[in-house]
Amino acid sequence: IKSVKERTGFDDTPFGTELSGSCENASISTRCKISSKKFHRDLPPTPVFAYGTTRAAATVPGPTIKALHGVDTYITWQNHLPSPHILPWDRTLPTAIPHTGKGIPTVVHLHGGIHEPESDGNSNSWFTDRFKDRGPTWTKKKYRYGNTQHPGNLWYHDHAMGLTRVNLLAGLVGTYVIQHPDLEIPLGLPYGDEFDRPLMIFDRTFKSDGSIYMNSTGDNPKIHPQWQPEYFGNTIIVNGKAWPKIKVQRRRYRFRILNASNARFFRFFFSNGLKFIIVASDSAYIATPVVVDKLLLAPSEMADVIIDFSSSTTNETILANDAPYPFPSGDLTDEINGKVMKFVINKEKVLDDSKIPKRLMNYPKPEISHASKSRYIALYEYTSKTGNPTHLYLNGKSYDEPATETPKIGSTEVWDVINLTGDNHPLHIHLGLFATLEQRELVDIENLKMCMKKLNNATECNVSKYVKGRRIPVPSHEKGWKNVFKMRPGCLTRILVRFALIHTNASYSFDASAEPGYVYHCHILDHEDNVMMRPLKLIS
Ligand code: C2O
Ligand code: CU
Repeated sequence: IKSVKERTGFDDTPFGTELSGSCENASISTRCKISSKKFHRDLPPTPVFAYGTTRAAATVPGPTIKALHGVDTYITWQNHLPSPHILPWDRTLPTAIPHTGKGIPTVVHLHGGIHEPESDGNSNSWFTDRFKDRGPTWTKKKYRYGNTQHPGNLWYHDHAMGLTRVNLLAGLVGTYVIQHPDLEIPLGLPYGDEFDRPLMIFDRTFKSDGSIYMNSTGDNPKIHPQWQPEYFGNTIIVNGKAWPKIKVQRRRYRFRILNASNARFFRFFFSNGLKFIIVASDSAYIATPVVVDKLLLAPSEMADVIIDFSSSTTNETILANDAPYPFPSGDLTDEINGKVMKFVINKEKVLDDSKIPKRLMNYPKPEISHASKSRYIALYEYTSKTGNPTHLYLNGKSYDEPATETPKIGSTEVWDVINLTGDNHPLHIHLGLFATLEQRELVDIENLKMCMKKLNNATECNVSKYVKGRRIPVPSHEKGWKNVFKMRPGCLTRILVRFALIHTNASYSFDASAEPGYVYHCHILDHEDNVMMRPLKLIS
């Protein structure tokens, strides 16, 4: 494999793929199809799977969808993907298999969305080309997103059973924003397409013919011929461009940063010391802005930040990354992945009418007294004799065992998540928004692991006697309502989950207990596919 020749170079092609297909609350048909795209001037065009409203407009990432709070979006997601898949498909995982033997299963999930289960893109609701084949829980073609939740940043991506990691790698990702002008305009943050932009960041490796490279031999090929525990690419892509540069004015900008990688964590910083002023995390504003030098984002985490280029001491700065991989224990860091994109800052200051308010949004405080139930969620890794991972589970269960997490609609629960593995797992819960209350190291974890292996029951293993270690402070910008949080290895992370809207004044009601229900899972996509995902069944 050869990667882009000029690995540390920056692309001269203009930054930004906010493409023509911006759809504002339209009732649209969105198709995914195969197309090709140029990620870097030194790379031949890459075959990709892309979303678009028309054939010509299909792009990676897909069109940015801007929805207005309180106004429904209806989307018919169509599939025009031809077989065979452009990436390896490991059929030894629990995976979607078309009965006809043909076609690429896909289904779209709006990540961060609080909406009916029939429109949630359940992994088993997949469908192939022109709906010829459908998964066991497929319900309908036209999805409805009520957009009654708090304003914020969402994203849409594929969620097909056992194929999520490859379908995303192939390009099935896009940004979705819920805007609430009455609440947001008074904040005075930078706005408009020029000064308020999504930055979707992920890693890929390319072959010299331009195609996406994914190792097609598993690290345990007798068990899983293809599956690898984590995909890491050697090229960083921002909005569909490898190492892009962008010219900016000497003023404030808003960037809605999303880590859309399969497995790579990013710890961002600016080469000239510029700071990130964080205003929101995944899908919700935080109460007050928080200023940081470094920003750690796990796969699927978002940070909505203001960057004030008027305070820059230089005329250029590089958005850089120093996160090891796998995170946090991996010893892999390198020059190449250390650079993300370059900002070229205009010399002259300009008039800037944006501001950063002292207070952002008021949401209900996470109160533990509101919780009606508490449960343990244990994260396990199983290994072969040679010590290589074979699969990962939540609570020692595969996906197809009946739902054990069955919260009441509208209720609040405490989840004590025990991470018995050596990796940091970004846990994502559909429908639910949660706040992290505390994170604490477990002591004597080998004994706990042994007991859990035998009994698979946290209560019987008396977990609380192991929760005696160091407390890891939750960073202040991550204390608010989120939909994904980093479950640190060897820790118990206590989260408060709300299975209800946290902020709304619009009417959109739906039956959250309807089939096919929701899911929760690790958002390292290679883990999710094998099978760190469980059903989440709400009851009335
Ligand atoms: Cu972003 Cu269940 O996914
Ligand atoms: Cu994981």
